[in-house]
Amino acid sequence: MKRYKIALIKGDGIGPEIIDEAVKVLDSVASCFDFYFEYVEALMGGCAYDITGDPLPQETINISLSSDAVLFGAIGGTKWDNLPREKRPESGLLRFRKELGVYANLRPAVVYDELINASSLKPEVVKGVDLMVVRELIGGIYFGEPKGRDENRGWNTMVYTRAEIVRIAHQAFKIAMTRSKRVCSIDKANVLDVSQLWRDVVTEVATEYPEVELSHMYVDNAAMQLIRDPRQFDVMLTGNIFGDILSDEASMLSGSIGLLPSASVGAKIGVYEPIHGSAPDIAGQGIANPIATISSASMMLRYALGENAAADKIDAAVKRALKEGYRTKDLAQFDAKEVCSTSEMGSIIANYAAK
Ligand code: IPM
Ligand code: MG
Repeated sequence: MKRYKIALIKGDGIGPEIIDEAVKVLDSVASCFDFYFEYVEALMGGCAYDITGDPLPQETINISLSSDAVLFGAIGGTKWDNLPREKRPESGLLRFRKELGVYANLRPAVVYDELINASSLKPEVVKGVDLMVVRELIGGIYFGEPKGRDENRGWNTMVYTRAEIVRIAHQAFKIAMTRSKRVCSIDKANVLDVSQLWRDVVTEVATEYPEVELSHMYVDNAAMQLIRDPRQFDVMLTGNIFGDILSDEASMLSGSIGLLPSASVGAKIGVYEPIHGSAPDIAGQGIANPIATISSASMMLRYALGENAAADKIDAAVKRALKEGYRTKDLAQFDAKEVCSTSEMGSIIANYAAK
């Protein structure tokens, strides 16, 4: 039997609850195939700071790098908001991404027909939306030097090198080749020099993918177009901060941020995580939606382990649970037949996935 070693980083807030459900589903689907999972837990975020004084202990990096993939919950919470920046949970996450070299963040936004009424936009606008934000994750203004602040000034620097743009552009074009073969690159080239370089390099890389149609859009216009007519997009290629903002916006097309998974990939290893945060306000109540994390586990099977049939089973199980009207509280007012808890939803999906 094949064994996959998975690093589990549950994190803070609802992180532990939702990861537990993803594990339930993974074990259930594995029982239909000739592989099994060995999990190793590692600490990150506020919980890591509380225990070790560091939001990202070195051991967490070591465990992650010696695993086949990382499944990650969420980090952060108001409790740690006043710590010095380098001790904050978010700083741990950024360092983690950098150390693991996960430069490409893939954030799909899909509108399920079963939940078409949950979107804050009209059904005729969002029906059939299926797009993917490909966000550069370890460069740009999040990491640029110089940065700092004194009493009267604060400053950060947006830098991209040609090499960084080339590698993320290749990711976007490769993904587009498996989809509708359209890439829309997002920038602010009318104002920013870094964006002009971005646009020029993406245009160069595009010549290697003659089948893919490339367009460019300014980020402000893209924010508007996502609401006006989201179906025009297939792959949206973005830098770090633009992708952070646009992927949150895109997630709402689907009705709940609790639905959408993501994958962060690089040359070494992938990190699979829901796009939502740790939601400390609802932690421990058993009402969080585990679907984003369960779908992240499915992305892990597909992208990191090549177990596509198992991933398909999870995706089908999620769709079926929604179709049958099972809803966690966030979606309770949208065609619910039965409102269920976090762990009930996990069990329902695990059960369907094993069939
Ligand atoms: C995300 C989050 C993070 C980011 C935060 C928590 C540092 O918003 O993954 O989108 O900005 O990248
Ligand atoms: Mg974000």
